[in-house]
Amino acid sequence: MTTTTITLSNTESHQFLTIQPASSAFSLRGRVRVPGDKSISHRSLMLGAIATGTTEISGLLLGEDPRSTAACLTAMGATISPLNSDHVTVQGIGIGALQEPKAVLDAGNSGTTMRLMLGLLASHPDRFFTMTGDESLRSRPMLRVINPLQAMGAQIWHRSGGYAPLSIQGQLLKPMHYQSPIASAQVKSCVLLAGLMAEGRTTVAEPARSRDHSERMLAAFGAEVIVDPEAKSATVVGPARLTGQTVVVPGDISSAAFWMVAAAIVPDAELVIENVGVNPTRTGILAALQMMDADITLENERVVTGEPVADIRVKSSQLKACTIGGEIIPRLIDEIPVLAVAAVFAEGTTVIKDAAELRVKESDRIAVMASELGKMGATITEHTDGLEITGGGTLTGTEVDSYTDHRIAMSLAIAALTAKGTTTIHRAEAASISYPSFVATLRSVCH
Ligand code: S3P
Repeated sequence: MTTTTITLSNTESHQFLTIQPASSAFSLRGRVRVPGDKSISHRSLMLGAIATGTTEISGLLLGEDPRSTAACLTAMGATISPLNSDHVTVQGIGIGALQEPKAVLDAGNSGTTMRLMLGLLASHPDRFFTMTGDESLRSRPMLRVINPLQAMGAQIWHRSGGYAPLSIQGQLLKPMHYQSPIASAQVKSCVLLAGLMAEGRTTVAEPARSRDHSERMLAAFGAEVIVDPEAKSATVVGPARLTGQTVVVPGDISSAAFWMVAAAIVPDAELVIENVGVNPTRTGILAALQMMDADITLENERVVTGEPVADIRVKSSQLKACTIGGEIIPRLIDEIPVLAVAAVFAEGTTVIKDAAELRVKESDRIAVMASELGKMGATITEHTDGLEITGGGTLTGTEVDSYTDHRIAMSLAIAALTAKGTTTIHRAEAASISYPSFVATLRSVCH
């Protein structure tokens, strides 16, 4: 094989992605652009829908997850232009004006859609909503948002154990001070969104700071937001009034992470990933790769509609192992699967701890990465709250599975680039949740 072969094949329900890297060294070079940030895309649609007036969004992620958010909002009366270009217009209906939908709301695979929207729905008096999601979402914990919402006066019914489908009878909620036991932007954002309609101050404090896109965007839309970095808390003052805005969504650092790791581990590689959001609550992956001696530089740093943005240049280098845990974890939680791939090529043993949250993501990402990278020959051990990976070995191509988890599918594709022989990733279509053009970009950087 002189060139890397990348093939997609379909069965009736699934896609297989087959990757056979060139046997001689191949170059991974060029400039790539990643799709819009998933977290910011969801929030721009939601805030646009409950604001007064028009919100113009450019750079929206056209993945399955934001499509689920848009479909739910449309079913409740918002007017959103077709998601066939990344420039989208939302005609807001004003705060408290979401209508009772005539059918069950479907959040698909998206935890952000379900958890954030629950905060909005619970605070709409006299309206009844039922929400469900796909098999993965129906097995993800919802008590983390149901509990604080109930403390604010929400009425929510759920399957035993706190799983969707969920039904909500909207109420006038009371404001609250919530000390969250977990660092979760979805929990924080859910409670803050519920607080928009409650009279007074609603505060969420966390054990470590999670991504702050909601706080930034709520303030930009005109809500009174108070952030206390020392207390790791955010407050909204209700009742709030939001006004439609122009939002420019930066590229998603979680999608950029695949190319950062690819360029770091493939010999003689150099990639520039353009227009990536580098909000400090999201840049744990940069810090971790730098700790591992990766050659990474930020260029052209700027601020675009309230979010820091940069181009990221990554060149291959010999990585060394590191230990990550504690407060950095929420800053790189979604990048841990691909960080595990980087660790396979680092000298020494990398330890990832305090990351038990990975077990309740779109799949159990600790178990799945241990089993799938293990099948490829990695020395990887699963712990309750993380992974231990001894680098320096080689990977061998084989059959692996995404477990329908987008980030697993793409992490395994990056691992496959450095494996000997052919890797086939089952259920690779999962990538379209957050990165519909992933395979096209993979092909472009490999050739
Ligand atoms: C997200 C927050 C994170 C992250 C998820 C998106 C968000 O989840 O893993 O992909 O948009 O708020 P948690 O808040 O549950 O940690």
